[in-house]
Amino acid sequence: MKEGIVIITGANSGIGKAAAIKFASEGFRVVMACRNRAISQQAQQEIAAVSRSTNIDLLELDVSSFESVRAFCSTFAANYPRLDILIHNAAYLNHGEKTYKLSPEHIELTFATNVFGPLLMTRLLADQLGKSQDPRILNACTTNIKHFFDPKRKIEFDNLQGEFRDTRPYSVYKMYGDSKMALLMLTFKLAEQLKSRGIKVNALQINRVKISQETIRKMSPFWRALARAQNLTNPLPSGMADNYYLICTSEQYKDATGKLFNHRREIVRASTRETGFAQLKNIFGSGSYPAYATDPVNVEKIWAMGSALTGEE
Ligand SMILES: NC(=O)c1ccc[n+]([C@@H]2O[C@H](COP(=O)([O-])OP(=O)(O)OC[C@H]3O[C@@H](n4cnc5c(N)ncnc54)[C@H](OP(=O)(O)O)[C@@H]3O)[C@@H](O)[C@H]2O)c1
Repeated sequence: MKEGIVIITGANSGIGKAAAIKFASEGFRVVMACRNRAISQQAQQEIAAVSRSTNIDLLELDVSSFESVRAFCSTFAANYPRLDILIHNAAYLNHGEKTYKLSPEHIELTFATNVFGPLLMTRLLADQLGKSQDPRILNACTTNIKHFFDPKRKIEFDNLQGEFRDTRPYSVYKMYGDSKMALLMLTFKLAEQLKSRGIKVNALQINRVKISQETIRKMSPFWRALARAQNLTNPLPSGMADNYYLICTSEQYKDATGKLFNHRREIVRASTRETGFAQLKNIFGSGSYPAYATDPVNVEKIWAMGSALTGEE
């Protein structure tokens, strides 16, 4: 697997940048898939200096835009022999955002960035992944999905294309949690779909990591102060980047697919009971995810929506 080729979306900051350093240090060719060329070039130089690697490429990608995803995948296919690892790390979470926003294809921006853009990218890169000896995909999920242990919590399937943007209250945190739940559901579904081609698809439940200085700089003063306070106790992104690396490269996880791993790289299982003491364990532990994620009705709904929106099966 050494000298493998890895794409990391959002590799210019936070966990993505730490992962780029890790993969490059271990001899991988790293393709940074980033939307802001000027900012990302600085990160590219930093990654090259720290990892002492010259095998770091930068390709432009706005994962919320299908046009950009298609252009990225065509450029990648034309210039690289295959793809070994695809890490969907980039995400939209604009702390304190009060406005419902739409992507160029008229999809709610959180879902376009965290769910449907990555889905389209996975589908368009499947042939390149199929050329690898050991292709692996990793999706960055979050403990925020624990809100789905609440039986009333549901993805707002009917409001993902601006349908009720002017009449329903908008919460960037709810949309973020909904999007990561959808990403987990697609992880399970894609693992089934891509099994026959040997492509493994897993997700990592990230608990807490220091928010990057790059992201903090974009925040309003209130959120900046809060993020700095949280960062006093949050661990460095390098630990989570090591998880990305190990899940995507080690023999131990070679056959794992359709799994959600926690921050200790243990397999998280679907909860079987969501009441009483069991529910407290669900909420405060990191061993189970809400049964909502494997409910066939929910999974088929997001899958059908993804197929209709991306126009790809
Ligand atoms: N940090 C945590 O505590 C935590 C907890 C749970 C889950 N996670 C997950 O872990 C992953 C990494 O988080 P992080 O804290 O390292 O994030 P971060 O430092 O804020 O980085 C996010 C990255 O995503 C990129 N991005 C956002 N929208 C994009 C778009 N449309 N196209 C391309 N790139 C885009 C950003 O690019 P720009 O620089 O151009 O904005 C940035 O590089 C995310 O999926 C996040 O949801 C993190």
